[in-house]
Amino acid sequence: MLIFTNNLNKTPKILVTGAAGFIGSHTMVELQQAGYQVIGLDNFENSSIHVADQISSITGTPITIENIDIRNKKALIAFVQQHKDIHAVIHFAAYKAVGESVQFPTKYYENNVGGTANLLDAMAVNDINSIVFSSSCTVYGEANPPVDETTPVQIATSPYGNTKQICEELLRDQNRANGLNVISLRYFNPVGAHDSALIGELPLGIPNNLVPFITQTAIGKRKQLTVFGNDYPTPDGTCIRDYIHVVDLAKAHLKALEYQLAGKNQLGFDVFNLGTGKGSSVLEVVAAFEKVSGQHLNMVFGPRRAGDVVQVYAACDKANKALGWKTERNLENCMQTAWAWEQALAKMENK
Ligand code: NAD
Ligand code: UD1
Repeated sequence: MLIFTNNLNKTPKILVTGAAGFIGSHTMVELQQAGYQVIGLDNFENSSIHVADQISSITGTPITIENIDIRNKKALIAFVQQHKDIHAVIHFAAYKAVGESVQFPTKYYENNVGGTANLLDAMAVNDINSIVFSSSCTVYGEANPPVDETTPVQIATSPYGNTKQICEELLRDQNRANGLNVISLRYFNPVGAHDSALIGELPLGIPNNLVPFITQTAIGKRKQLTVFGNDYPTPDGTCIRDYIHVVDLAKAHLKALEYQLAGKNQLGFDVFNLGTGKGSSVLEVVAAFEKVSGQHLNMVFGPRRAGDVVQVYAACDKANKALGWKTERNLENCMQTAWAWEQALAKMENK
């Protein structure tokens, strides 16, 4: 049950960009289940048009996700104007492949930065003064964990990382210029899938990220997992990351939204880390997967991957205290739901 502390006399209407994507779809579910009015947009470049139906199946409430590209400023402004009384925006739409961003930087700046600038203009035209933005722990580079929000932002090691930093600067400037309320959420490693196995991550082509690579190997789409380096200065020699369940992450967006709509974002622009506070090595992730799936994973050790930091995990005290949010799921649940999703996908593909 949603309790409005924001003095709005009606249910807040929230625009979600990238609503059909991995994190966007899970957030759409949480928003609907909490009683918000939700409007989604996506250009379906990295997602399926069927996601809206899957979300509706989970929540029991019909929903549409409009095909809008945020690079098309005219269409975006018209879309926002058409949906009057939007109270806030949650902005997920972006490209996210680090390697591809190195190869095609302009594509990344155009979409991630240009698209965000268009969105801010569309918001300004329509007097929408609240946004929650998807940022990344990549802004901290190689830092001593646990990493809190006072950790300095480092020079980005990829165009993708740089787009996140530039967007944060753009949002800060927009706050200074017109008082836009901004919360930037710096995600650590989002993994897992919805308990229903109706929505999850849909990597295009060969996955870059560890968890989809593991589940695709187990289902037989990939021959074996290559562990990138086992000579790191960590207890088992493999890199350490902070894997956060996508449903926990989605719920944090609701908390951030509530906080902002309740006028608690006194700074106007603020950042929060979202992780579990616990680091897990690549081998621990593989072990958790094998335990919950009962599968033995084909795995080899390979060389280190360029650009990987040795270990990173979050200090999330700020989000815990200010937003009243904490994670509820552990690594095994992440792997169990990711595996259920991979199996459900295989069934859908074989139909
Ligand atoms: P995703 O690719 O699954 O979702 C992004 C969605 O945005 C996709 O459905 C895509 O089709 C859409 N999109 C892309 N460009 C668009 C455009 N021009 N117009 C309209 N829609 C567009 O990615 P995700 O994992 O859900 O990530 C969501 C956000 O979180 C992104 O901004 C990403 O950079 C950020 N993030 C993700 C991770 C992660 O590991 N998944 C980590 C840190 C930050
Ligand atoms: C990567 C990106 C990061 C981005 C995040 C979410 C890099 C250097 N970093 O983070 O900017 O925000 O994805 O999209 O690309 N691993 C293997 N074998 C694999 C795949 C991964 O051993 O086949 C290891 C990696 O070396 C790493 C860990 O698994 O130690 C996690 O990798 P990944 O899922 O790609 O996430 P990050 O590298 O943390």
